[in-house]
Amino acid sequence: MQRSWHVAIIMDGNGRWARARGLPRVAGHRQGAKAVRRVVEAAPELGITTLTLYAFSSDNWRRPAAEVQALMELLERYLNQECERCLEHGVRVNVIGRRDRLAPRVVKAIRRAETMTAKASRLRLRLAVDYSARHAICAAARLVPRSGRLTEESFSRLLNRAIHSVPPAPDVDLLIRTSGERRISDFLLWEIAYAEFVFAERLWPDFGEADLERAMADFLQRDRRFGRVLEDAV
Ligand code: IPE
Ligand code: IPE
Ligand code: MG
Repeated sequence: MQRSWHVAIIMDGNGRWARARGLPRVAGHRQGAKAVRRVVEAAPELGITTLTLYAFSSDNWRRPAAEVQALMELLERYLNQECERCLEHGVRVNVIGRRDRLAPRVVKAIRRAETMTAKASRLRLRLAVDYSARHAICAAARLVPRSGRLTEESFSRLLNRAIHSVPPAPDVDLLIRTSGERRISDFLLWEIAYAEFVFAERLWPDFGEADLERAMADFLQRDRRFGRVLEDAV
């Protein structure tokens, strides 16, 4: 049986977590960063080899400037401070999305983290920052050569290149969204073609190893047919 899964998570509910405690939204994001650490460390034991986390969508620029700034600072701090820890756990860090609108110091932190962890191979951690699946697909379309045959595989490679996902990542097997919301919010539209979905009620800052385990157990019970007829059902 395959034990090399690509799990993607839409980490949602930080604001509601904070509001329920009478705290500023930023406090929810800070707590959310701790949940990232828990999930990253629990993932390899569950057979997850690629983990893609939605950290900041291109539409999140529409939030108040102070919140955007706090999120960028948290990202920069995570990249700068977690590198050693990631290395210890065999985690290769990769930030996917656009880089042209990020502050130079954030881009610098991204490059540093990617270089420092480039040889780690236990878990590939892709953090989606200034990410929009529609924008990514358009950017990949602009890379299509004028001549030659375009296949789904070659387009997938261009798509990975367009979002700095180097080397290319496989398609998503399981997509999890926390906080009870049931929508995609412009995440990985191409790569989730045959992904299974798990919608968890838990708010992201409360999400932990047991929740990831539960989502994986649910996923492993599903019949993935990929358009075929199940043999025992013929
Ligand atoms: C997810 O939590 C984190 C980001 C989108 C950056 P939210 O901030 O969206 O939390 P809610 O949805 O307002 O509770
Ligand atoms: C999606 O969450 C983006 C991230 C988790 C980073 P949002 O909270 O921004 O999504 P919507 O606005 O509820 O669709
Ligand atoms: Mg939200």
